[in-house]
Amino acid sequence: MAILPIITVPDPRLRKISEPVERVDAEILTLLDDMLETMYDAPGIGLAAIQVAEPRRIVVVDIGKTDETRAPLFLINPEVIWASEELSTYNEGCLSVPDYYDDVKRPARVRIRHLDRAGAVQEFDAEGLLATVVQHELEHLEGGLFIDHLSRLKRERVVKRLTKVARYDEIAAHNRAERESEEAGA
Ligand code: NI
Repeated sequence: MAILPIITVPDPRLRKISEPVERVDAEILTLLDDMLETMYDAPGIGLAAIQVAEPRRIVVVDIGKTDETRAPLFLINPEVIWASEELSTYNEGCLSVPDYYDDVKRPARVRIRHLDRAGAVQEFDAEGLLATVVQHELEHLEGGLFIDHLSRLKRERVVKRLTKVARYDEIAAHNRAERESEEAGA
């Protein structure tokens, strides 16, 4: 297994619509395992493949907080086939939107259909935090982000800050590379 780099806003790949998985093969299973390890390492409770720059309809979720309560879900080609009219609000965050949390309202209960690791069709009902996390992750597959639910002002503020952070990181990486090449030349 491997820990994969997580891409963050404003990386334009996060806005891509992910492609359905046609066959659950060894490559897909490896990606699922790597995504789970990456999510645990972050740490996070949900991760969509596009967040590791793979535009495929794959999601891993685990809302268990400790080793004892871990129960990973592997969702391939997941879709919401039913959603309650009742809504609930959670304070959400996202590994691709570092250091920002805000309240988002979503259906309180959903039914999900997906393929499992054996390629078989499965369905399950989710409520509470699990319902929120699964809907948040499925939104990634459409190129969406939880900040799309916020006011334009709030969203622009977050994107502006993260764009600055990305620019600083780029400059720092550039300076580091220059320093290293100078040292190598000395
Ligand atoms: Ni997210």
